[in-house]
Amino acid sequence: MDSLTTTPLQRATKRLESAGVENPGYDAIKLLETFFGKRVFALDRKEIESIPADLWSRFDDAIKLRENRMPVAKIINQKDFWGRSFYVNENVLDPRPETEVLIEEAGKEDFELFLDLGVGSGCILVSLLGEKQEAFGTGADISPECLEVSKVNVERFGLADRCNLITSDWFSAINCKFDLIISNPPYITGSEYRTLQPEIKYFEPKIALTLEDDGLESYRKIASSVSSYLNTKARLIIEISYRKYQEVTRIFRHTDLLHEKDITDLSGATRALVFRKL
Ligand SMILES: C[S@@+](CC[C@H](N)C(=O)[O-])C[C@H]1O[C@@H](n2cnc3c(N)ncnc32)[C@H](O)[C@@H]1O
Repeated sequence: MDSLTTTPLQRATKRLESAGVENPGYDAIKLLETFFGKRVFALDRKEIESIPADLWSRFDDAIKLRENRMPVAKIINQKDFWGRSFYVNENVLDPRPETEVLIEEAGKEDFELFLDLGVGSGCILVSLLGEKQEAFGTGADISPECLEVSKVNVERFGLADRCNLITSDWFSAINCKFDLIISNPPYITGSEYRTLQPEIKYFEPKIALTLEDDGLESYRKIASSVSSYLNTKARLIIEISYRKYQEVTRIFRHTDLLHEKDITDLSGATRALVFRKL
């Protein structure tokens, strides 16, 4: 690599390493490439010399934010999920790659009406609309600020006419039945929350992560009424923590839904459960 690129990049990497950032080199490159709009390795000497000082200064500001443990996605206001780049800000959880298994599973069957409960950035809603051209989605969230972000993403991908977004405390504002309900609810316990890394604890919205409970309250609430919102043969696909597998399956045993399948993520951990209304 050209020394003119190497030096600022190496300096940035060193700073991130000293700040305790997990993948300092990767993050420094990601920020550099975002600000310069080009792959670092594609820059030649002439291009490097023509990079204006204010761009280097913006890169330096971004490194400072990352030194303070702000996640890269929150610095650049974008996060990739299921092949799309989503707008994110401090009001939504950055989409996680683990959640992509829910999209893969949902796509295995046809459905028309679906509900994304706890829509957040809209990553699940938008991805499913992208997968199923005939589908119409409802995205519901208790946080109006989240819905502003999901609206941006729905419009970014030209999907506004195939979905609606509503403020709802779980099912409180829902009044129809669906072929699929999909959800990634908050499931971190109050004590786990206190031990989270700074990137999550200080920069992700608390309401997306924890109800400060035993990590099961969302499941209890959803399980208590989900059946009334599912058509016959419809599915519920819900993300879980593999640590809470027994407890969550026990909660759903009190519903009339059939526990049909466990979905594992790339690390081999159970990441989601599939239930079906009989
Ligand atoms: C783990 S985040 C998931 C966001 C997004 N669906 C994703 O997978 O990245 C959980 C979402 O549930 C929402 N939420 C929390 N409590 C809720 C409630 N009582 N009713 C509806 N949504 C709720 C949060 O605001 C947050 O957007």
